[in-house]
This record gives sequence, structure tokens and C-alpha cells, in this order.
Amino acid sequence: MSFLNINIEPSELIPVEVDGLTEGAAKELDIFLVPNKKAVLYKKAGVPITEKHLKELRENGISYVYIRRRDCSILIRELEEEVSKVFQKSVNIEVVKKWAGKVINLAEAILSTPTQENLKAAHRVTQKISESIEKNPQVAYLTAFVLKKDISTSVHISNVHTLSSGFAYHLGYKGKDLELIVTGSFFHDIGKVKVPDHILKKPRRLSPREFEIVKKHTLWGYEILNKFSFKRYADIALSHHEFLDGSGYPHGLKGEQIPEEARLVQICDIYEALTGIRPYRDAEPPFSALSLMKREFVEKEKIDIELYKEFVLFLHKNRK
Ligand SMILES: [Fe+2]
Ligand SMILES: [Fe+2]
Repeated sequence: MSFLNINIEPSELIPVEVDGLTEGAAKELDIFLVPNKKAVLYKKAGVPITEKHLKELRENGISYVYIRRRDCSILIRELEEEVSKVFQKSVNIEVVKKWAGKVINLAEAILSTPTQENLKAAHRVTQKISESIEKNPQVAYLTAFVLKKDISTSVHISNVHTLSSGFAYHLGYKGKDLELIVTGSFFHDIGKVKVPDHILKKPRRLSPREFEIVKKHTLWGYEILNKFSFKRYADIALSHHEFLDGSGYPHGLKGEQIPEEARLVQICDIYEALTGIRPYRDAEPPFSALSLMKREFVEKEKIDIELYKEFVLFLHKNRK
């Protein structure tokens, strides 16, 4: 591999998932690697990513490359063009992996620079994804295979987004209703941009005071989405931690007061949290996560039993 040494602080860079790169991608972006905490230029802007780059990165076990934080809007604009192409290939697990990889990169970009312009461009990407799912419904039943294990918020967002999109399709959501879930699940934790990093990335269990701050991501997400004219998706951000018995947050809503779309994203969010790794505990295998959900949420009447049953069916179809 050939590099050019360059004077740039690693803190000026944001990670980009190699799984989200495709041939022809990142044309207008300088791409960096950070071996030994020092940034080196891997590819210059003006040249797209080639099959050779992808092979080389994979052979060297590199799953993340880096771009400048200030180039986030270029990354999002490029993702807009690339995402439809992902679904043009015949549907298989690789297509769904690419979709998830691109959404991780999209999430990383909007979390690092949550401007109205970037959110609008991200919205155009999720709209395209929604259309593509309707054209290629088989992808819905491959989503559980691509859940990545990583503690980063962008991976969590991508996991919840792909799973919620697949589950919504399974439940019969179409057109605008499907798009509400595809986009809403992508924006569900956008409020976390306001949670301080030392809390969000804390490698241990949170103190009660820190947890109170994390809980505010629902209100902050609602505010951000309303401010940027994404009112339609704001209820998912606000209510995805509410429980049917009124024990959730931020408002302790009960039963029908919780919008249906928030409950749908919530079940995927809980499953993702349990099966994903967290710094303070091991990941639950799928079956044990489902048993735990039944014991702790369904039997305690926090989540709807019918929705849970459908979710189990949906995951079962993902296993075929
Ligand atoms: Fe959340
Ligand atoms: Fe979440």
C-alpha cells in the first residue's frame, strides 16, 4: 500500500465504513488511513474508489478509512447517487450489507455535522432506500443477517434502520407509510448529537445522573427534527422509549398514546441493544434476546404481544 504523509490531526477525521464503499464511490473525497495514530493520505480527491482499493483494504484487514469532518456534505451528496445503484444488482446478502454500510456512513456524517442541509440530503437518501425496498422486497428478509456488532452510535442507527425497514415491510407498510419508518428509524436517535461524548462513549455502566442526560436525547431529537422541518419523523424520535404501561420516558405515555410507528421502531431498538455488544456486558444471542424481551417487556405489558409475535415471525423468515 502506498501512502502520503500528511499533517492532519486524527480528531479532524471521521470514520467511513469500508463495507459502505463501492467501486466508483468517494470520487470527490480525500481518503485517509490512521495507522499508529498518525493520518496518512490513501486516496486523493478526483479519483474514485476502485475494485483494487477495496481488495487491498480488505486484504489488510482494514474495515474503516477516514475523511475530513468538513467533507461530510460531499460524502452525503455522493451517497445520494450511490445508494440507488446498490439495489440495482440482483438481491443478495451483499446488497443488504452495502445498504447497511452506506447508512452507517450516512449516520456518521449527520452525527458529526447535523446541519439542515445535511439532514435534508440524508432524507433524500432514505427516501431512495424506501423506494428501493418496495422494488426489491426480498431485502426485507435479509436485514437481520447484516446487524453489525459495534458500540458506535452510527452502527446502532444503521442496525435499527435496516431492521425497522425490513420489519415494516413485513407488516405490510407501503409507500408513504413505509417511508415514514425507513426515514424515522434513521433519525430516531438524532438527539444523541447533544449528549456529551464522555457519556455517550463511556465504557462502563452510566450513573443515574448520566442516564438522566441520555434520556433527553428523545426531547432533543424531537426539537432538532421540528426545527429542520422534519415534523413527520419527530414522534418516532420522541416516543421510541415510551412503554405501554406508562413506565417509559420522556412523558410516561400509555397504550394508544404512543404512536404505532414509535412502537415498531422500539421493538427493533430493544432487540438491537440486546444482541449488540455494549462495553459493560456481552451480546445476547438472538434466541436469548427474544426470551428476555418476552419476560421483561411482553409479560410486564410494556410492549404489545401481537407486535412481538410478528417480530419473532419476521426474524424467523430472516433465517430461511
Ligand atoms: Fe433512543
Ligand atoms: Fe436507539
